[in-house]
Amino acid sequence: MKRYQALADTMAAEIRAGRLPVGTRLPSVRHLTTQYGVGQSTVFRAYYLLEEWGLIRARERSGYYVAPGAGLPAPAGTPPSPLAEPAPIDVSSLVFSVLDAVKRPDVVPLGSAFPSPKLFPLARLSKSLAHATRMLDPWSTVVDMPPGNEPLRRQLALRYIGMGIAQPVEELIVTNGAMEALTLCLMAVTRPGDVVAIESPCFYAALQAVEHLGLRAVEIPVDPREGLDLDVLAEALDKHPVRACWFMTNFQNPTGVTLSIDKKRALVELLAKHEVPLIEDDVYGELHFAQDRPPPAKAFDTKGLVMHCASLSKTLAPGYRLGWVAAGRFADAIRRLKLMTSISTSIPIQAGIADYLQHGGFDKHLRKLRGALLAQRGAMETAIARWLPAEIAFARPDGGYFLWLELPGHVDAMQLHRQALARGINVTPGPIFSARHAFGNCVRINFGHPWSTQTESAMKTLGELLRAPS
Ligand SMILES: Cc1ncc(COP(=O)(O)O)c(C=O)c1O
Repeated sequence: MKRYQALADTMAAEIRAGRLPVGTRLPSVRHLTTQYGVGQSTVFRAYYLLEEWGLIRARERSGYYVAPGAGLPAPAGTPPSPLAEPAPIDVSSLVFSVLDAVKRPDVVPLGSAFPSPKLFPLARLSKSLAHATRMLDPWSTVVDMPPGNEPLRRQLALRYIGMGIAQPVEELIVTNGAMEALTLCLMAVTRPGDVVAIESPCFYAALQAVEHLGLRAVEIPVDPREGLDLDVLAEALDKHPVRACWFMTNFQNPTGVTLSIDKKRALVELLAKHEVPLIEDDVYGELHFAQDRPPPAKAFDTKGLVMHCASLSKTLAPGYRLGWVAAGRFADAIRRLKLMTSISTSIPIQAGIADYLQHGGFDKHLRKLRGALLAQRGAMETAIARWLPAEIAFARPDGGYFLWLELPGHVDAMQLHRQALARGINVTPGPIFSARHAFGNCVRINFGHPWSTQTESAMKTLGELLRAPS
């Protein structure tokens, strides 16, 4: 420990013990140098540290005083919540219990919605962030408000060109993650009480957004091998006043299925015929295992009806909360809604990501990430074959990092979730992916984390739980 730290500790102990009460003037620097036999800079640094800890305050030309509140105990870290006890739960609280359990570092994250943070180039990213922040033009605070930082949107537009889409930069709006983009799209094209078509099973946050905005949902089945049922969708469009569709076309969450190119084209044509906007959620599109990125439905849109939403949360920088929407004819409405709801996406983050996309080697990182995920999919499949009952069915996804397991019919996925959590393993139970709590015998598991003995033994435990008499 450095001398100034030791001195700061000694004085902090005096203050906390009440021997130096609130408002007391601290001894002068000269006094302390003599008392402790240290140099002036050591005393100053100790005082700065005490100030940082909130224990003392400087008064101009007067010296340092013990700060109000210095006697209060330091805020304790939040104790980890105990593992959930078996209890009846509804879908919303189940969603939060799953998300809460993901936060626990001691729980095996098979229920996580993210890949391992270890797979992201965090050091290179922070270099871009530091560089961009140093160069930040003070006016960017206003210039980069919605639709967002122009160099960033140009970088994003270049990536659309890579998918064969001539994406106008003016129609790209930067958001706080894809979630904000998706919600703003929904807000732009619906009013409370309207009907929206969603997938079944679907990403649980879509259900929450629909509920939150007071909308009604018509669920369109998704087959884990074939994807969205377009015949049912056509019927729903004829029967109901559907105002918008919210679908995933690539590596759907939770099933992992990708729509074929023909189906994507047919979907866009069907919706164009009915003049119904498509909110396309494509957050996993870059995580493909085949050579080429599967195109989004946006690639077939000639009417500006598709709002293509994506983010870097699953591919580069989860905590940065950087997403966007290629909003077609709704761009202006969404830009205004973005201003009204969150004013702007963090300006330094936008600039930092623009710098990274330009200079950081994003495509090289993506190649590495995809390679890791593909290897982890293989390890997960081997573990399933080794530890889980043979009756389990799943379709092999061509990208992303989720497996949707259909368990034997008698298995209760909610119960399995609770039992697994009690054993320190998180899996996502099927019913949270459905408005009607369907998929009671399905679970989604995440293979986005480097394989470890902990994962192997978690899979073994799942096998034991599945084989145990209920
Ligand atoms: C299908 C899907 N869409 C959207 C999101 C939200 O993305 P973001 O974290 O960029 O807001 C997620 C995150 O889990 C997701 O799985």
